[in-house]
Amino acid sequence: MTTAADYAEFAAREAHGVSPAYERLALAVSRDQEMLALLGTLPPAKRQPNLLFGVVRFLGGPVEDPAAFRDFTMGNRPAVEAEMRTRATQTNEAGRCAVLLPVLAALPQPLALLEVGASAGLCLYPDRYAYRYGDHPVGSGEPVLDCAVTGVAPPARLPDVVWRAGLDLNPLDVTSPADVAWLDALVWPEHERRRARLRAAAAVAATDPPLLVRGDLADDLPDLAAKAPAGATLVVFHTSVLYQVPAPRREAFAKMVRGLPGHWIANETPDVLPYPGLPEPPGAALHNVLALDGTPLAWTLSHGQAMTWFA
Ligand SMILES: C[S@@+](CC[C@H](N)C(=O)[O-])C[C@H]1O[C@@H](n2cnc3c(N)ncnc32)[C@H](O)[C@@H]1O
Repeated sequence: MTTAADYAEFAAREAHGVSPAYERLALAVSRDQEMLALLGTLPPAKRQPNLLFGVVRFLGGPVEDPAAFRDFTMGNRPAVEAEMRTRATQTNEAGRCAVLLPVLAALPQPLALLEVGASAGLCLYPDRYAYRYGDHPVGSGEPVLDCAVTGVAPPARLPDVVWRAGLDLNPLDVTSPADVAWLDALVWPEHERRRARLRAAAAVAATDPPLLVRGDLADDLPDLAAKAPAGATLVVFHTSVLYQVPAPRREAFAKMVRGLPGHWIANETPDVLPYPGLPEPPGAALHNVLALDGTPLAWTLSHGQAMTWFA
């Protein structure tokens, strides 16, 4: 697909009905030869709408009005290009803990959590957040993660986590204002609740930062897993990561993780870890599949806002 077609598709399929500002920007870019030429100077993986729009927001530029966005981008072209070359889209959504919690709470406690593709590690604190499954609360404090759950009882307790570690190609640091500002810029403009959740979760993580290691999820997993304490159940997990990993590497990772002691939780789109015989998803929105040790359990929505357990 051409970059113009990518932006038009992003406007129609991803931003439409979700972010009017990004829908307007993406449509405008798809028709703007100068903007497309700017994007053409970047490697293909660095031309994505989310990266361009996030970088402009990170640099303080406007994203509501396409003309103002264009003026800012062209007027700050060296800075925009430099940030797009060095940064990556690595949205960290603590809300995804809400769909992990029923599985985590049912495993033998205590837990040693190892997240691959952890970004800043905000999903490594499922025991420190509060939850609302419909009108059923679990835990207390902030952030409160809302999840509409169908087909399974909400968890009765929080897990007991004694160790938490993450692996990422580019780990972000929750104690770095610049890294938190980048995570903030990746949240779409109208999504104030997600932004508040990000800030609250980053504040929780910053009081007890996780062990985050720079590395690849297949190559570097065994060494980090070997550091987990004896006497705790090792849980390797990942959410919304494998779509960024080429298919042969995904297969190498899945083989590797099955050979480790403990358990493996995946929360990924059905195209990256295909499971035979999945039921129809409960709606047209893009769903992830939650799976334990390779067995699919539920459809989940991408920010952890809903889960539908398989019958
Ligand atoms: C979209 S973010 C999701 C972050 C987090 N799992 C969440 O759900 O909030 C994907 C993360 O995976 C990381 N990643 C992509 N490929 C990877 C690989 N081969 N090894 C380790 N991390 C990887 C990226 O750097 C990024 O931080």
